[in-house]
Amino acid sequence: MSVNDHDLVIVIDFGAQYAQLIARRVREAHAYSEIVPRTTPVSDILARRPKAVILSGGPASVHVDGAPSIDPSLYDAGVPVLGICYGAQLLARDLGGEVRRTGTGEYGRTPLSVTGSSPLFTDLPVEQQVWMSHGDAIVEPPAGFVAVATSPGAPVAALEDRDRALYGVQFHPEVAHTERGQEMLKAFLYDVAGCRPTWTHVSIIDEAVAQIRAQVGDERVICGLSGGVDSAVAAALVHKAVGDQLTCVFVDTGLLRLGEADQVEETFRRQFHVELVHVKAADRFLGALNDVIDPERKRKIIGETFIRVFEEVARDLDDARFLVQGTLYPDIVESGGGDNAVIKSHHNVGGLPEDMDFELVEPLRNLFKDEVRAVGEELGLPEDIVWRQPFPGPGLGVRIVGTITPERVETLQRADAIVVEEIKRAGLYREIWQSFAVLPAVRTVGVMGDDRTYAYPVIIRAVTSDDAMTADWARIPYDVLERMASRIINEVPGVNRVAYDITSKPPGTIEWE
Ligand code: XMP
Repeated sequence: MSVNDHDLVIVIDFGAQYAQLIARRVREAHAYSEIVPRTTPVSDILARRPKAVILSGGPASVHVDGAPSIDPSLYDAGVPVLGICYGAQLLARDLGGEVRRTGTGEYGRTPLSVTGSSPLFTDLPVEQQVWMSHGDAIVEPPAGFVAVATSPGAPVAALEDRDRALYGVQFHPEVAHTERGQEMLKAFLYDVAGCRPTWTHVSIIDEAVAQIRAQVGDERVICGLSGGVDSAVAAALVHKAVGDQLTCVFVDTGLLRLGEADQVEETFRRQFHVELVHVKAADRFLGALNDVIDPERKRKIIGETFIRVFEEVARDLDDARFLVQGTLYPDIVESGGGDNAVIKSHHNVGGLPEDMDFELVEPLRNLFKDEVRAVGEELGLPEDIVWRQPFPGPGLGVRIVGTITPERVETLQRADAIVVEEIKRAGLYREIWQSFAVLPAVRTVGVMGDDRTYAYPVIIRAVTSDDAMTADWARIPYDVLERMASRIINEVPGVNRVAYDITSKPPGTIEWE
C-alpha cells in the first residue's frame, strides 16, 4: 500500500496555521489528508480524486477586495465539502447566501445550540461549547441549504445541503476548545464522505519501509544523526527498511547536552545495531571557537566546521549514493506545497553543502511532527529521544555568552541537565517548548559559607510556544524554580547565582545568542 491507496482528504489552505491543524486532526481520525494552496485549480484538485474536501479558515473577510476564493465549480463535483469559518462563509456566499458584517463578532469559547438534525451532530448534545473566531457572520443560508445550529453572534453557525453533501460550520471543530469538534470531523469524514480509516502508525511505517526499499534498492545510504527526534526516526525507518546498507554519522561537536552522545551510541549502536560512525570532534570545534565572542561568527564557525567534518566522513563512505534527510510535511507545505523543485532545495540537515552528490531519501516528508513522534515510539526509540525538546544546530555554542572553553561547556552542561531533570520531574517537559540553562559572561558577588564568591550566574530559560516564531516565558511553579536554583548552586562548581528569564519573544529571542 502507498499513500495513494488511502482515501484522500484535501484541505484547501485559506491562510494562517488553520489548515495544518485541520489536516492533523483528520489524520488523527485515521484518514489521510494533504494541504493544497487555495490557488490550486479545481480541476487539479478533482484529478486527485479526493474523497472529501475541507475549506480551511483564514484571516480574511469575504467582503475585502481580492479576498481569497475558490472556483465554485468545486461545489458541483459531487465531492463532499466541509467549509470551516472563512471556508463556510465563502461557500455560503458563492452559492447565494448572505454573509454580513454584523458588528458582533465572536472570539473564543462560545455556546452553540444545535437547531436541526444533522449528520455532523448525531449523538452530540444540543447545547455545547465551541471555539469561534469571526467578524463576519452568515445571516442567510443559500437556497437548498438549511441552518442547523446557531450561536449568540452567528445566526447560521452551521448549515448544510445534505443532498449535495455540502456542509459549513462557523466555529473551529479542529481546535481543542471545541469540546466535541473531533467527533464532528469524524462524522463528516466517515458518515458523510464514507472515508476508510486506514491511516494508522502501522500503515505509515509499512508504507515508508516499502518506499525506501523501492528507492534505494541495494545501494548504500548515509544518515546524519543530530540527537533530535527527526533524524533519529528517519534513521530508524531507513534501518528497518534496508538494515546494514545504512551507515549513520554522528558528529559530537562538544556542544551537545549532557549524555546526548552516549544516548545516541546506546540507542543506535547497541539497541538497533546500526553501523554508526561517531566522530568525536569536540577539540576541533572548540579550537575553532577559541576566543570567538560574536554570536554570528560562532554560528558560522560551527556550521562550517560541521560541513568539513561531514564531508571528510562522507568521502570515506564514497560508495554511498543516498543521503537521508528528516524533512517534515510542514516544511513542504511552507515551501510551496508539493512542488518537487522547491522541496529539493529545502535543506534542513544542519546546513549540509549543496554540492554533495547524493540523492535524498526523505521518509518523513508526508508526516507531521506528532506523527513522527508516534512512529518513533512504535519503532521502539527511547522516550528521551522521541520527546526531546528542540535544540539549535550550533548547540550550547549559542547558550554560552562570551568565550567558549571546555570548562564553561561543562558548567553549562551540568546546570542544563539539572534544569531538564527538574522540569521532567515536575511533569512539565512535554508542555514546555524549550527549557534550558544559559551561561552569561558576567560575574557577580555572592557569599557561600563564610567566603565571598565572585562567580558566574546561570540563567534558566523556559518558554511555551507553538512554532518558535513567538514564545512566552513559562509560568513554572516557584517550588520547581527553587529546586533548580538550589541544586545548581550546590552541584555545579563555579556558579553562585541563578536567575529566571521572564522575557517573551518578541521582544526577546528564545536563545540568548
Ligand atoms: P530564537 O532564539 O531565534 O530561536 O528565538 C528560535 C528557535 O530556533 C532555534 N535556533 C536555531 N536552530 N540553528 C538552529 O538549527 C540556529 O542557529 C538556531 N538559533 C536558534 C532555537 O533553539 C529555537 O527553537
